[in-house]
Amino acid sequence: MLHSPLRFRRFLLLVSIVALLATACGSSDDVDNEDSPDVGTQVDAGTVGDAGPAEPEPDADAGPAEPDATGEDSDTESGCTAEETDCGDSCVDLDSDDDHCGECGNACGVGESCVDAQCQSGDVSFSEDVEPILDGCITCHGGVTPRADLNLSDDAYDSLVDVESTDCPGRIRVFPGEPDESYLIDKLEGADDICGTQMPQSGELPASELDTIRQWISEGALDN
Ligand code: HEC
Repeated sequence: MLHSPLRFRRFLLLVSIVALLATACGSSDDVDNEDSPDVGTQVDAGTVGDAGPAEPEPDADAGPAEPDATGEDSDTESGCTAEETDCGDSCVDLDSDDDHCGECGNACGVGESCVDAQCQSGDVSFSEDVEPILDGCITCHGGVTPRADLNLSDDAYDSLVDVESTDCPGRIRVFPGEPDESYLIDKLEGADDICGTQMPQSGELPASELDTIRQWISEGALDN
């Protein structure tokens, strides 16, 4: 009989220890299980809650904003004038731009010029065809004091191309690609609206020489 109560107490001790451990483990499991879902639920709720109202707001802004942005874009594009085209970094005239001739990026080669949206090599040579004609003008347009400050001897090209007339302000002596806009042609053909008299004063140049100068200007008035 002595052994039995002892064993029974030991058994009780063991049971109570196991029970304690089980309780401790169980409760710690409970705490973990409770914490995890709580955190998860809070995060989810927060995310859903933020996302809910946040998404419509950008949408609501984007609705009216997109047409505005498009409007600004077209404004930027129309920053180029009607005759110009936006070729990425610059507004150019595709009819006459040597780097963008006819279309963006189409560059004309050396000695070529963009005229009427096409690269032209120039059949007429300034030095070989045009300068010999101008030699007849040097008596008056050469030397120390060339008439009308127009020097047709040494630096004839620089005196003509893209240079404003001294007698007719606003007129350009040679407008590349535009013979009809070039004051030199008007002077040589005796147009009605010239200042002063027709050149040369001794009498009109032969038609063939006038044609040569006209064609040289049409081809872009190259320094060739
Ligand atoms: C006998 C002298 C004389 C000769 C030769 C002469 N010119 Fe002139 N030229 C003048 C005088 C003077 C003027 C300024 C008065 C005027 O415009 O009528 C002038 C003006 C001009 C102008 C206007 C310049 C400007 O900026 O307004 C042009 C262009 C011109 N001459 C071209 C020629 C050409 C091209 C030739 C040869 C084919 C030529 N001239 C021959 C005397 C001459």
